[in-house]
Amino acid sequence: MSAVVVDKVTKTFNRGRTDEVTALSEVDLTVADGELVSLIGPSGCGKSTLLRLIADLIQPSTGTVTVAGQSAGQARKEQAYGIAFQQAGLFEWRTVLRNVELPLELRGLSKRERKARAEEMLTLVGLEDFAGHYPAQLSGGMQQRVAIARALAVQPPLLLMDEPFGALDEMTRERLQSELLGICTQTGTSTVFVTHSISEAVFLSNRVVVMSARPGRITASITVDLPSRDDAGRQSPAFFEKITEVRQALRGTPAAAPPPRASEGAAAGTDAR
Ligand SMILES: Nc1ncnc2c1ncn2[C@@H]1O[C@H](COP(=O)(O)OP(=O)(O)O)[C@@H](O)[C@H]1O
Ligand SMILES: [Mg+2]
Repeated sequence: MSAVVVDKVTKTFNRGRTDEVTALSEVDLTVADGELVSLIGPSGCGKSTLLRLIADLIQPSTGTVTVAGQSAGQARKEQAYGIAFQQAGLFEWRTVLRNVELPLELRGLSKRERKARAEEMLTLVGLEDFAGHYPAQLSGGMQQRVAIARALAVQPPLLLMDEPFGALDEMTRERLQSELLGICTQTGTSTVFVTHSISEAVFLSNRVVVMSARPGRITASITVDLPSRDDAGRQSPAFFEKITEVRQALRGTPAAAPPPRASEGAAAGTDAR
């Protein structure tokens, strides 16, 4: 069974008003079990909208979304997925442990079960020594790891991530990418990962789905098969070939971002914005 099936989904906001906007048009997307799919495209092309539709936070105007064989709404009720967004979104008045326990409380687990599971998740993201800290006492990267631990706490078969590492420095980002890959491999989790970084998409994904703006459409689906997902993988010819392929797919779209200005430096070359 597929983890996600998005079938001919169109999403129009403010329909019938002067500010009507078709964020997505006729989008089809299937995510296989255990697959990590990245969504990449220029700002405003509907990446977040697509993720929010899968999470049942908003409803499609037309078309259907199926998560693990059931409706998106049913999947949400059953906490069939975990979500992590760009901002960690932790509760400042709860300790790290109690933030991770939150979805388990909602599930009605006993206090003992909650604590045991939350501690296990914190160990997974390397934060077992910070269980009693408050979010404000942690760095941005550590907060993001707490958010990932929380998203994983109910061991969801599906993880939905919207630029979760966008606010982090490059070193932290690369470390968390490796951690995420380790966790997904270990748990068999399927993942839909939104990013505007071409290199991040290529490094993490089994498949990179390229989108264009106004209206948001899927314009390419690029399969990635790196020799390894580690430092050697990042330096492999396959890695650079895929980066070029994704960049060309982005440029081929009518609404793709203009080429980076020379003054923006090397990093701009792998950024879709
Ligand atoms: N709640 C909303 N109401 C009206 N327009 C929205 C809403 N959410 C998103 N949009 C519009 O839909 C388009 C896609 O937005 P979004 O999915 O956030 O893009 P991305 O995440 O790719 O940057 C944009 O034009 C945005 O302004
Ligand atoms: Mg977005």
